[in-house]
Formats: sequence, structure tokens, C-alpha cells
Amino acid sequence: MNQLAEIAPAEGRLGVLLAGLGAVSTTFIAGVESVRRGLSVPHGSLTQMNTIRLGMRTENRTPLINDFVPLARLDDLVFGAWDPYPDDAMRSAETCGVLTSEDVRRVADFMKTIKPMSAVFDSDHVKKLDGKNVKKGGSKRDLAEQLRADIRRFREDNKCDRLVMIWAASTEVFLPAGDPAHATVEAFEAAMAADDPAIAPSMLYAWAAIREGVPFANGAPNLTCDIPALTDLAVQAGVPIAGKDFKTGQTLMKTILAPGLKARMLGVKGWFSTNILGNRDGEVLDDPGSFRTKEESKLGALEYILQPDLYPELYGDMYHKVRINYYPPRGDNKEGWDNIDLFGWMGYPMQIKIDFLCRDSILAAPIVLDLALFLDLASRAEMSGIQEWLSFYFKAPQTAEGLYPEHDLFIQHWKLKNTLRWLMGEEQITHLGVEYYD
Ligand SMILES: NC(=O)c1ccc[n+]([C@@H]2O[C@H](COP(=O)([O-])OP(=O)(O)OC[C@H]3O[C@@H](n4cnc5c(N)ncnc54)[C@H](O)[C@@H]3O)[C@@H](O)[C@H]2O)c1
Repeated sequence: MNQLAEIAPAEGRLGVLLAGLGAVSTTFIAGVESVRRGLSVPHGSLTQMNTIRLGMRTENRTPLINDFVPLARLDDLVFGAWDPYPDDAMRSAETCGVLTSEDVRRVADFMKTIKPMSAVFDSDHVKKLDGKNVKKGGSKRDLAEQLRADIRRFREDNKCDRLVMIWAASTEVFLPAGDPAHATVEAFEAAMAADDPAIAPSMLYAWAAIREGVPFANGAPNLTCDIPALTDLAVQAGVPIAGKDFKTGQTLMKTILAPGLKARMLGVKGWFSTNILGNRDGEVLDDPGSFRTKEESKLGALEYILQPDLYPELYGDMYHKVRINYYPPRGDNKEGWDNIDLFGWMGYPMQIKIDFLCRDSILAAPIVLDLALFLDLASRAEMSGIQEWLSFYFKAPQTAEGLYPEHDLFIQHWKLKNTLRWLMGEEQITHLGVEYYD
């Protein structure tokens, strides 16, 4: 049963604030607008297309998720962004080259209206970029206060009832977890004032959002809000947060396939993954510091799904390697190869080869939409802190301290839908099924 207070209705406008107005953000905005104009179908979005089974299989109750839980309507979404490059969403979409010029032109009037606010940017945290649309400030604390002022101004100017913020900006260089500056809210705020290098720009956005009561999701692998100071602050402030790193492309495939291999107790000796991509994200990831952040995020999934500690004979000696290669001719159309060396009965070897010709931002855009709508729902349902039920969307899901993350896409999907049932006071679905045979 629902253990929560009543969910406030999704009335009025929902502002979606995007840190970063690059490939993912512009593909997301253009897609929402073209759906609103009846030019597209929101493929890949659970909130727009997926149904949810309620009750017994014999009841035939399968409403759309959108009809079952009170979500904001696409018509009520307004968009804002920050980016160190001053290009509006139209120009940025053209530069990113994810969508055809014809598709961008069909929503050009709308896209031109979205101009990025000046960013909190630091080239120590993202190499290879050099935008000029950047805030100046005395200290990191001061810069974060400027972000809070932007949030308040945006809310007022656009007459928003509610806001959500999503980090869809470049991957920052690797920062180790466990820095004393990340340990408590007090230490974090003191470190902001002292310009501590352990405080990355993405953390300032997350802090500003939480302090303004705005739900926050992190689409990149940076630590950002995955530190005790900000998870604690989110709970104190009653703000839902989620992260990290949108689950698209190769990791999506891994978390679909690996659970199947494990379910059949097939062993894996090696899993080699390599990618070529040529967008700005790929260029940033060409920097070893940013790649390290991504690598950590990508490597975790298999370990957790296959559980080598529980199944040493099957997965104890697995060799897992991930490579990302910047290759400009491909643009956003990434190609991801996987070679899996597996073994079955009596140890006989087999191989699987995957060649996924994917489109990164096409896979990421519906994730941004779902996260915006679900985080807003969570906020209206008075849920706060880490929203583990949104793990479905992330490569490296945030969890409570000491809890290992669930990476299996099917467990994540089940968890998400059971959370929606729980929120609405519907029975959980266990798939036990004996009741049909009594
Ligand atoms: N495309 C995908 O499928 C996918 C999947 C998982 C994660 N991600 C992550 O999402 C993020 C965005 O991906 P993308 O393909 O849109 O990249 P992109 O390079 O096209 O866009 C990122 C934008 O962020 C801006 N930016 C950099 N630092 C900023 C800051 N401090 N504040 C505000 N803006 C800043 C850049 O100028 C750029 O315009 C990346 O971190 C990427 O790793 C993307």
C-alpha cells in the first residue's frame, strides 16, 4: 500500500533546467517540441508510451503509465539551460548534427528561443573546451549563489510552478570519492567558500538546485551529487536526486545481455568493449581524466550483475576491458563492438559479437524526459534523497551507503514499476502466479 502522503497534482508549468546545451539536451528539447506539434512519436520514453499491469493477469488492467500516475504534461514543459558556449538551442543542434537539418528546421522558431545562461565552468575539470559564456565570481560559493539566482529568475520569468534540473554537460575529470570536503554539508559549504579543488562545477549546480528545492539528476559519470554532503543535503531539504550517467549504447546492451547469461549459468571468460564516436562528448572523453571517470562508470555494471564472488567458477577470471576512441567522422553515431568469450557445459567455449550502430543522443533524449517527469512526480509525492527506483536510467546508479547497486535492466524496470504501484496504493506484482492454479 501507499505509505506516502497524497501526491500533489501536476498543475501549472514545469521548468526543465539543463546544465549543458549540447547533443543530448538539444535532441531532447527538439524531440519534445516535435511531439507537441504532432510531428513525432516519443519513442523510447516510458512515461509517454509504456503501460503498467495492475492486479491479476485476468483483470486486464494495463493503463498507460501516464494515465496511471499524475505526471506533468508535455505542453506544460518549459526549458532553460546553461552552457559555456553562447549558441542557442537551434545553432547548437545544428553543430551537434544528431538530427537532420530538416527535423531541426521544423522546430527552429522554438529552438531559437532557448539561449543558454552563462555557465559555471572550469577548464581544470573539463579539458578541451574553451567557451566564453562563463560566470565570473569571487569564490565557488559565489558562483553557486549566482546559479541560485538564475534558478529563481528562470522560475519567475517563465511563471513555473515547479522546476527540475538535469546535468547533461560534459564529463568532468575523475575525482576520487571520499574527499573530506565531500563528507558533510558543513565541510562542503566551507570548501566552496575556500575554493577547494575537490569541488567540481557540477557539484555547484547540484548544490544550487537542492538549496532551491529543485530535484536534480546527473546524466554524466562525474561524482556530482553522489557524495554524502549532497545526499544528506537532499534529504534535509526534502529534494529527490538521482544519478549517475545515462544508460545508453553499450552499457544498455550489457545490462540486457549479462542478466540472461547469468540466468542460464553460462560462464564468461572475457568481455571486450570498444567504441568509436566523434561528437563533442567523444572529444572530451579523449582526455584521460574524463575517460577515467567514464571508465569507472562503465566497468561496474558487469561486476555487479555477474557476481563473481558468488560464482567464482563462472565469472571469477573474467577479463573486462572498455575502450572509447574519438573518431570525428562518425559524429554522434557511435559504433560499439563487444566481443564476449563465454563457456557452457563442460567448459566448451563460445563467442558472441555485438556491433551496435547506435545513436547516442537518440537513446539519451527520452531518458532526460522520463527523469524530468519522474523526479517531478517524486517531489510532489514528498520523496527525498536518492531515488533508487530510477536506476533503470543510469549506468552507475546511486544507492544508499553500503548498498550495492542493481544493474540488471529487468530488475530495474520491475523496481521502477513497483514503485509506481506503491505510490498509487496498488498491489506489488511478484510474478508468483500460484493464485491462478488454486
Ligand atoms: N549521449 C549519450 O548517450 C550519453 C550517455 C551517457 C552519458 N552522457 C553524458 O551526458 C553528457 C552530455 O553528452 P552530450 O553528448 O550532450 O555532450 P556534448 O558535448 O554535446 O554537450 C555537453 C555540453 O555541456 C557543455 N558544458 C561543459 N561544461 C559545462 C558546465 N560546467 N556548465 C554547463 N555546460 C557545460 C558543453 O559546452 C557542451 O555544449 C556528457 O557528460 C556525456 O558523457 C551522454
